[in-house]
Amino acid sequence: MKKNWLIVIVGLFMVMGLAACGSSNEDASQDDGANSEKTLVMGTSADYPPFEYIDSAQGEEIIGFDVDIANYIADELGYNVEIKDMDFSGLITALSSERVDFVLAGMTPTEERKENVDFSDIYYSANHMIVSSTDNEMVKPEDLDGAKVGVQLGSIQEDKANELKESGIEMEIITLNRIPELIQELKSGRYDAIIIEDTVAKGYLESNDDLTGENLPNTEEAGSAVAFPKDSELTKEFNEVIKKMKDNGKMDEFIEKWFGQDTVE
Ligand code: ARG
Repeated sequence: MKKNWLIVIVGLFMVMGLAACGSSNEDASQDDGANSEKTLVMGTSADYPPFEYIDSAQGEEIIGFDVDIANYIADELGYNVEIKDMDFSGLITALSSERVDFVLAGMTPTEERKENVDFSDIYYSANHMIVSSTDNEMVKPEDLDGAKVGVQLGSIQEDKANELKESGIEMEIITLNRIPELIQELKSGRYDAIIIEDTVAKGYLESNDDLTGENLPNTEEAGSAVAFPKDSELTKEFNEVIKKMKDNGKMDEFIEKWFGQDTVE
């Protein structure tokens, strides 16, 4: 009994200690003293390896290509970054309600999104891919006729699937919030195919022999850019660093690290 109390008390002290650190940091960021760094809140959807994900074998932290880019840019500009994980479909609202300062989530700058948020220059590009199981391969859009097809809610792959459907390919489109859930549904045979980005599909194809992927032909590239609340001053600041990273080889270094290839755009 005594021992338990001791643990509780020691625990309490530790929590108090942490809280003290937390609040002094906050104070520092609110205080406009010369060298106090400001913290920017980054919104993301950490279901998207290798852009942003949690590798549970390594720990609880969100890691990935986008995280490296965010840290590099913030570092150059003298900010700290705090990451907020949420569903991809909630990111635009989080920006317009200013709950986050920017979004890095492999997000494509579409005309529709541009009505509500601003985008940086594109930092990496990708294409759409149909992923299906090797014993029921679907390689062309026509193969999706009559199929159950999964896409991420609020993604441009959802738009793409709707477009295909409107063009006459009769498929049932199912939307889910998280990419690993889509993969699970596909592997278990509940879906016939999913449409995701080739850069993300690649990793899943490597670790799942029972899956196969084929790029959707004739589609415009799906580039990724940083998103900001409308008229944010950060857009210009970030663009300058993105340009610098493309020039000084840092972007290629991160691409090589996370995608194992070194082509920009
Ligand atoms: N590039 C696609 C889009 O902008 C998908 C991005 C999904 N990102 C994520 N972190 N799940 O719609």
